[in-house]
Formats: sequence, structure tokens, C-alpha cells
Amino acid sequence: MSTIEITTQVAVVGGGPSGLTMAYLLRQAGIDVEVVENRSRPYTVDRVRAGVLEQSAVELLTKAGLGERLHTEGQKHDGIYLQFDGEKHRVPFADLINRSVWVYGQQEVMKDLLVAHDKQGFSAHYECDNVALHNLLTDAPSVTYTQNGQDVRITARFIIGADGFHGISRPSIPESEITHHERVYPFGWLGILADVEPSTDELIYAIHDDGFAMHSMRSNTVSRLYLQVDPEDDIANWSDERIWEALQTRLGHPGFTLKEGPITEKSITPMRSWVSSPMRYGNLFLVGDSAHIVPPTGAKGLNSAFGDIAVLTPSLLDFFTTGNEKGIDAYSKDSLDRIWRTQNFSMYMTNMLHRFYSDNPAQDDFDYRSQLGQLRTVVNSRHGMAFLAENYTGIVW
Ligand code: FAD
Ligand code: DHB
Repeated sequence: MSTIEITTQVAVVGGGPSGLTMAYLLRQAGIDVEVVENRSRPYTVDRVRAGVLEQSAVELLTKAGLGERLHTEGQKHDGIYLQFDGEKHRVPFADLINRSVWVYGQQEVMKDLLVAHDKQGFSAHYECDNVALHNLLTDAPSVTYTQNGQDVRITARFIIGADGFHGISRPSIPESEITHHERVYPFGWLGILADVEPSTDELIYAIHDDGFAMHSMRSNTVSRLYLQVDPEDDIANWSDERIWEALQTRLGHPGFTLKEGPITEKSITPMRSWVSSPMRYGNLFLVGDSAHIVPPTGAKGLNSAFGDIAVLTPSLLDFFTTGNEKGIDAYSKDSLDRIWRTQNFSMYMTNMLHRFYSDNPAQDDFDYRSQLGQLRTVVNSRHGMAFLAENYTGIVW
């Protein structure tokens, strides 16, 4: 069987939120785009991941015509709670800096994107095997794959590597041309979805003697909760009863009742910070998790991807309409400047809100008390809270 040859302007690798958003925006502007995804369409939607969209991400989606359900079904939150040492303090984003965040699950963003793609009469190529990139330093780079036993080659002017942390785009760049910066944390997050009304109006980030816990939500009937656990721990060790008991202990405080309900999903995710630099190699651009990962404490992963897209899309359009390469040439440096700010904030939130355990308990105790001091500094200072609010609600792109 001969190879099917497809020619397009932009080939996107990865049909997650980064890939679908890029593809949608480019097509909206009249650019031909093909998207190659190695999993099935339901798989890309069903993964339970991000829950918080920062204001700039909401503005990007709204401007693109993707905000209808987000504004009716998403919840606008004007603050979060920080809980420590038996105290609970609200950080009032809207009062401090007149910005907010929206609680709207990544699964809902994906559903909206797929509806929008369907309306454009467009579908990604799903369940593609052996995806590989070629000729990245030429003006005709290509993506090859096999679908149902058929070999396909897509030749484009540019390739967008939006295939997440475990994809093939980043590893397609020669090691001599890219540097990886990594920080691994000695804990992971056990996350659950539960069919129960949230016990809080806004997200609670809590540090307890036993470790971090967080209460988030997806709707008025679905709660999302997280616990700091050993990253090597097996989810099989965590019965529903054990999870609720730990959440009750870590989130408990006077006057608060944590409502329990059936757990519909549970998993453990390790935590790491990662940046690959540069984010461009020839005519391949890395976007989202393929180039950078944050620990989830600052709710920045998906939002950082939208930041990349907000810079790269107009730069590509400028190139296609005027031939101007200034934007695409600046993409990597401009994105990395923003990404390192986001990395710093995610690390700040993570270090402040988790328990660190070493073989020196006295030092661990010192560090914990110092973290409580840091939290008191934040909640007792309008500037401290405004710093957190500015970063949590997102850098203005
Ligand atoms: P991905 O979502 O990983 O999508 C990549 C796509 O590429 C996938 O569909 C994958 O199947 C496909 N792919 C992989 N390999 C190949 C290949 N070889 N060929 C073709 N396709 C391929 N972020 C936030 O902003 N706020 C939050 O509140 C938040 N909470 C989180 C909570 C958890 C538990 C987790 C795990 C993450 C959270 N994140 C959060 C991070 C967020 O989910 C990610 O940053 C986001 O999914 C990145 O999107 P992406 O499209 O870049 O990558
Ligand atoms: C959620 C995830 C996060 O990482 C976070 O910081 C806040 C909320 C969530 O899944 O709802």
C-alpha cells in the first residue's frame, strides 16, 4: 500500500487542549491545519485533569467564541482560602486586584473545543501509531504515522508539538540542541472526584501536620479533592474510607463540615517542575506540557499552555499573511520569560503548602514552622495577598 500524502500549512501533533485550541484558532483565521493524535477521541476528553482557568485564559477562549458554556456553567471565583494551623483566611482576588479565576474542568474545555471543531467541519486524525517528525530544519517538515495499517505523511510549513509531556515532539529535537531543567518533589497528589455537593464556596488550600489537602469542585454536585501522598504510593492502598478520613482530618477546622459522597475517580499523580529550552527547533514549535510542567499547586499547567498559544497564534498568522518572522523568532524567548515566572509561582505555592519529610525530623519541624510563618506573612499583608492574587489569577499576556 502506498503512503497517503497530505499537504497543509500547519501540522499539530497532539489533540489535547493545547493542540485543539491552536488548530481551532488557526483555522478560524483561514489557515489549513491537520491534527494528529495517538489516542482515541473519548480518551482525550475523559481524562480528569485541570479545574481552574485564570482570567487571561478565559479572555482568550471568550474572544475565540469558545466561552459560551464556560460563562453559563463555569463558576467565577473571586478568591481562595488558605488554611493552616487551625485558621482559615480568604485571599480576596477581586477586592485586591480586580481579577478572578473560573472553575471549569479541562474536560469541559475539551468538549467545547470538539464541538467547535465539528462546526468547522474538522476532525483530528485519531488513533495514529508510530507518529514521527522529519526534516524539522527545512521549510517542508513532515509528520508520519500509521492509521488502521495505512501509512500517512503530512507535509506542512510548520509543526506544532502539542503532544504533552510524554509525546514525541520534544524528543525529536537533538539532545545537543535543547536543555532540560527539572525539579522533582518528594510527594504526589492523590486526586478524587466525588458525587457530592462542595462543602466550600471557594477553593481551600490547606497545610496540616499530616500534609497538604485541597478542596476544589466541578459543579454544584461534584467535588474534586486532593491529598499529598508519597509519590510511590499505590492507589490500591487508599480505600474510599481512608481517603475521606484523611480529608476530614486535614481539611477539618472549627465550624466546617466536609460532606462525603461516592468517589467516582481516584488516582495518584507525581509532581515535578520541568522546562525545556528553547521551545523552537527549526520549524517545530513546542506548546504546553510538551515543553513545560508545573506542580499543580498553583493551577498553572493548562493556563501556561494558553499563554503559549496566545503568543504563537498571532505570530504564525503574521508570518502567513505578511511573511514577518519577528513574532515566531521571539516566541521561545518571550514564552520562556513568562514560563519561568509561572514556574517560580508554582514552586512558591508548592513549597509553602506541603510537608517536607527527610531523615532529620528536627529540621523538618523547623521548616514546617517557617512555612506557617510564611503563610502568616501572606495573609497579614495586603501586599503579600496581592502578590499571590496577581500570580494565581495569571500574568496578563
Ligand atoms: P496534554 O493534555 O497532555 O495533551 C497532549 C495530547 O497529545 C494528548 O491527547 C495525548 O494523547 C497526545 N499525544 C501524546 N503523545 C502523542 C504522540 N506520540 N502522537 C500524537 N499525539 C500524542 N492545569 C491548570 O492550568 N489548572 C489546574 O487546575 C490543573 N490541575 C491539574 C490537576 C491534575 C491532577 C493534573 C494531572 C494536571 C493538572 N493541570 C492543571 C495541568 C493540565 O492538565 C495540563 O497542563 C494540560 O493538560 C496540558 O495540555 P496539553 O494539551 O499541553 O497536553
Ligand atoms: C484543581 C487543580 C489544581 O491543581 C488546583 O491548583 C486547583 C484546582 C482542580 O482540579 O479543580
